[in-house]
Amino acid sequence: MNHFLDIHLTDTADLRRIIDTAADMKSARLGQPRGALDADQPLKNRMVALIFEKPSTRTRVSFDVGVRQMGGQTMVLSGNDMQLGHGETIADTARVLSRYVDLIMIRTFDEAVLTEMAEFATVPVINGLTDRTHPCQIMADVLTFEEHRGPIKGKKVVWSGDGNNVCASFLHAAGQFGFDLTFTGPPTLDPEQEFVDLARSKGAKIEIVRDPAKAVQGADLVVTDTWVSMHDAQSARERRHNQLRPYRVDAELMAQAKPDALFMHCLPAHRDDEATSEVMDGPHSVIFDEAENRLHAQKAILRWCLEV
Ligand code: CP
Ligand code: NVA
Repeated sequence: MNHFLDIHLTDTADLRRIIDTAADMKSARLGQPRGALDADQPLKNRMVALIFEKPSTRTRVSFDVGVRQMGGQTMVLSGNDMQLGHGETIADTARVLSRYVDLIMIRTFDEAVLTEMAEFATVPVINGLTDRTHPCQIMADVLTFEEHRGPIKGKKVVWSGDGNNVCASFLHAAGQFGFDLTFTGPPTLDPEQEFVDLARSKGAKIEIVRDPAKAVQGADLVVTDTWVSMHDAQSARERRHNQLRPYRVDAELMAQAKPDALFMHCLPAHRDDEATSEVMDGPHSVIFDEAENRLHAQKAILRWCLEV
């Protein structure tokens, strides 16, 4: 079963195939109206369930549009409205949904919900974000980087801020795609050691540098994300802001990176907290290409999962 649960759980050859398919499918649509159907309709007669236990704009719309462009149908389900939110087990939900739909995409809190869904579903399951990882986002980010700068292998990526779920998937990608990653942030918000160790064991150079200006020297890509994620307690907001303020990506920090460095943010952003509007709207920024590429990357992931 081709589940897409995490980047480190997918073969490097398959990851490469997904990125290349995404790039090909994107170019095949150039000049087409957004609502146009893809010529080959690979998801014709396929039904996809999109389950959200957390809010979403990009993931929700890009999966929905992507499935439709490929000729399939979707149903967008809120975890709360399902029996899942009222005590039905994940295992039973997975087995029932598998009798109706061809693929399940789920955004949830606890990673264990995703893995249990995958264990009991008899159709492919895609991770649309958990508290720990966000693999679809980083597939879009790799596609975006390569579109602008060529192969990501051997490049230096700097993550500035919270070592959160998006950072974790970047670490997974460093191991699988062969790029280096420097984390800069306060020690209390370091990424989990497990992610760092895994990337290192695959040969990626992973560094932790506390001084952001030093960290971004020679960076090909600077990335940040919100200081308070959906799973973080709102009560921790002020403390996190105080700890993370030195890691805000502003024009002065970007000027320390390579002159042609890219800036990424998965969005949604809190403008002028984790990154200034000057950077987000400036010449290094590719944030809206990233958002667009969620669509193309996920279409390729769906095809890989369904082998179509
Ligand atoms: N980047 C991302 O996953 O955005 P949404 O939360 O809007 O889906
Ligand atoms: N780290 C963020 C990413 C949102 C797409 C969160 O989990 O809220």
